Formats: sequence, C-alpha cells, structure tokens
Amino acid sequence: MNIAIIGSGGREHAIAWKLAQSVKADDVFVLPGNGGTQNNVPIAPTNFESIKQFCLEKKIELIFVGPEDPLARGIVDFFAGSSIKVFGPDKQAAQMEGSKIWSKQFMKRYGVATADFWIPEDTFQIRAIAQEMEGQAVVKYDGLAAGKGVFVCSSTTEIYEAIDEIHKRYGRNAPYLIERKMKGQEVSIIGFTDGQSIRLLQPSQDHKPALDGDKGPNTGGMGAYCPVPFCDETLLEKISATIVQPTLRGIQSEGFQYKGVLYFGIMVTEDGPKLLEYNVRFGDPETEVLLPSLKSDLLDLTLACLNGTLADFNLEFNNGYFVDVVLASGGYPGSYEKGKEINGLDNLPAGALVFHAGTKKDKGQLQTSGGRVLNLVGQGATLQAAIDSAYQMVKQVRFDKMYFRKDIAKKGLTV
Ligand code: GLY
Repeated sequence: MNIAIIGSGGREHAIAWKLAQSVKADDVFVLPGNGGTQNNVPIAPTNFESIKQFCLEKKIELIFVGPEDPLARGIVDFFAGSSIKVFGPDKQAAQMEGSKIWSKQFMKRYGVATADFWIPEDTFQIRAIAQEMEGQAVVKYDGLAAGKGVFVCSSTTEIYEAIDEIHKRYGRNAPYLIERKMKGQEVSIIGFTDGQSIRLLQPSQDHKPALDGDKGPNTGGMGAYCPVPFCDETLLEKISATIVQPTLRGIQSEGFQYKGVLYFGIMVTEDGPKLLEYNVRFGDPETEVLLPSLKSDLLDLTLACLNGTLADFNLEFNNGYFVDVVLASGGYPGSYEKGKEINGLDNLPAGALVFHAGTKKDKGQLQTSGGRVLNLVGQGATLQAAIDSAYQMVKQVRFDKMYFRKDIAKKGLTV
C-alpha cells in the first residue's frame, strides 16, 4: 500500500518512521516533510487539489493527516467517496479542536468532566466573571491559533489584557471564552477511534513552557515522555468513565464521521480528571514517544479504524520508558535565526531515535529551518534510564544558539 503523510514536523517524521515498518507499507511519501524525512513532496497541507493529483499519480491508498489545519478545512470531506482513504475526522467533528466554544458546548451536552466556562456578552459580564473567579481564569480565543490563543491568567488585570490581546490579534469581534482555571498535573491521553470504540495509547506528558521548572513563555512543546507513572489504572478508569466514554457517545449522537486520532488534554485536579481540550490529531511532541512505545503495527491499527474493526484489534506496547528532548533554536518561541549547520548526528549510535522537525537539507548539509529543530528520544527500563539516554544523545548534537530544557520527564520521577 502506498501512503501519503501530510505535515512537516517531528510528529510526521515519527508517523513516517512507524508506518514504514509495516510489511503492508510500500512507498511512504511526506507532504511536504522536512530534512529528516524521505520521499518529500513539496505540496502544502491545505492544497487539497494538488494532494489529490499527486495521490492519483502515485496510486496512494491512504492519507495520514498530521496537523489540525487540513482536518478543520475538511480534507476528509474532500476525499469522501474517492478510493483514497483519509485517516482523520470529518470537518464537522474537527470542530472539537477548531472551535473552543463549540467544543466546550459539546463537552457540556454530553456530560464530559471539564471546568466551568462563560462566553461574556458585554464588559459588565466580563467584570462579574473576573471578580467571581478572583482573576484565576483561562481566556481562550475560539479559533485555531497554533497554541497561541490560550491565556492563563492570575489577576483580573491579566484577564482584561488577554481579551485585549485576542481582539488585537484576531479582530474586534473575535470570539473567545473564559474558563475557570484548574490546578493539578496535566496528562495527554491519546487514542484511536473508528467511531464505535476508542483504544488508548500510553499516557504521556508534554512540557509546554520554554524554560526549566515550567517557566517562561509557552511553546509548541519542549519535550515529552511516556508512560506517566502517576497515571495508574485507577486514574485511567476514571478518565475513561468521565471523559473518554461520554465523548464517544457524543461523537455517535452527533453523527460524526470520525476515524482517526483523538487527543484528550487532561488536568488531574483534586476533584478528579477534567478535560482541558480536545485535539483531533496526534500531539507533538507526544507522538515522538508514543510511537516508539507502540509495539503494534501502526498501519494495521489505522486500517482497523478505517474498516470499523478497532474493538478486535490487539493493541500492544513495548516495555520501558521513552523520553523526548527537543532541541530548539535560540529565541524560540519568539524570533530566532535559521540556516544554522547541524552537526554531531553521525556520532549517535545506529538505531538512535531522532525525529526531525525544523530542519532542511541544503546541498547535502543539514540546517535549522524552524523553532523546534530536533527530537532526540531516549529509552530505558526505568524512567531515569530513559532520561539519561536522551541527555546522552543531546551531548552529541550541536548547532549555533541551540537550547533545550534540562528537566524533561523529571516530574515523572517524583511520583
Ligand atoms: N502537545 C500539544 C499539542 O500537540 O497540541
């Protein structure tokens, strides 16, 4: 089977790596891909017509979509009725990520455990909500914002500033919601669904802030690990009963066409797990640890979703822990320079797990081309061994102004 993967990040490199291991996979293309992926094709993820032409030309049977944008713009609907299968939710279901307001209303409709929220209609309501919550709120822009539309506030002033910023960036009438801020530990629960059942991968944890100790501005993710020791069977059962299963009932009641990956961003609070957000795709950098931890064949798992036979799928995981340290360009998530030579990857042992993100090849030389540059994934029988293995790899690699967090997965050791 020939396959096209849509996207260009570390997530898509990991998906390509895992799909290529399947005996059923023939040619695996990445559109547009990066400096680490093979068979790159320079077509943008939202150029559906060009994607279709390419797929017909290369006899592609399966499109695996990495990022949210093509899903929110309806790539699944675009290919409906064609012989090319697209793995992901349809446009309606993609609103679970594409519209924060719609998504919260969906959660409420189906009894999914989540924080209280408001959609204020005027400044009097904003003031009343801000005062009631004593400034402890999260302000979320309604639309897709590449992780930049969420403002975690600790004072009423910060709430007003967040609303101003949303209006400045997205227009005077830009929709947003205000949510009660929750305290606790975050965990990412990512599953596969065929619309009838959901099967969960190992729990994982992202590290969004740029600096050690979860300080500094939010990024796309500076590292991840799995499994997460505090997320035990009891907690997973609770997450399933209060978040995952009500969501599945919602998907079925709404009549969505959902055969894809569903991501639950969860806050484990003193009152139990609460859903922060859905993503209708794999997380990045969670994918870079989840796929190495998956023993089962990813193509078989994907086809089980597309064929509606997921309930019978034999889902298996590899033993041990996986830790991903992201190497980023100095300045990220603000402005940063590109085109820095990357050296030292040849020093890594054969079989070392390296997933490229912001890299490109220029006359055979690997260079930086983005904020998050490389994902170095360590593995070990214990979490500490996996951390040590990842940071051993980090020591080998260098580029000008490279930076990384030194405490990835450390919080997993304290449980
Ligand atoms: N790791 C967070 C995300 O993929 O949105």
